[in-house]
Amino acid sequence: MKILILYTSKHGFTKACTTYLSDRLIGKVDVQNLDDNSQLSLDGYDWIVMGSAVYMGKINKKMTLFSDKNRDKLLSHNIALFTCCTTPEESDKYLLTGFSKRLYEASKLNTNFGGKLQRDELTFFERKLTDLISKTEGKVQQTFYENMDSLVRLINNSEQSEKV
Ligand SMILES: Cc1cc2nc3c(=O)[nH]c(=O)nc-3n(C[C@H](O)[C@H](O)[C@H](O)COP(=O)(O)O)c2cc1C
Repeated sequence: MKILILYTSKHGFTKACTTYLSDRLIGKVDVQNLDDNSQLSLDGYDWIVMGSAVYMGKINKKMTLFSDKNRDKLLSHNIALFTCCTTPEESDKYLLTGFSKRLYEASKLNTNFGGKLQRDELTFFERKLTDLISKTEGKVQQTFYENMDSLVRLINNSEQSEKV
């Protein structure tokens, strides 16, 4: 089984989530930051997992462009989508804004892994902005391990049912 995890992360939380996933998935797992390489081949993968951190109400633009450009190819794979953000109740809205409706509907799991505001890594402007956000909306830090575990189970079990 071959799995590709595509992600974008500015301050590291999303990246850490992809490490949690890849450590638990059975098979060959490629983890790729879209900021490092957007000329990827999607051939040969059984699953493609795509996720992004949310900034100012949006997933990363590169992720949106990549998924739009490769939509038909992505639709021929098992896909799963996730966000990392501090307002998890908005996750589906962010996914539907950032990915096409067809991808969202074809996705075997649309989920959220939580988020973390790493204050010491933020610019002055980001800090001021997130002070406002966290006061009114989100939690400063929460990690939904149960959602990551559900995705791992879904993918690992799909390999077992293929073998039956
Ligand atoms: C400037 C800024 C804007 C953000 N905007 C949102 C937002 O609109 N909605 C939300 O739920 N979380 C928002 N967040 C929280 C991030 O999504 C969260 O910190 C996430 O874990 C960042 O992931 P990363 O460390 O992989 O970059 C924002 C964070 C920052 C620093």
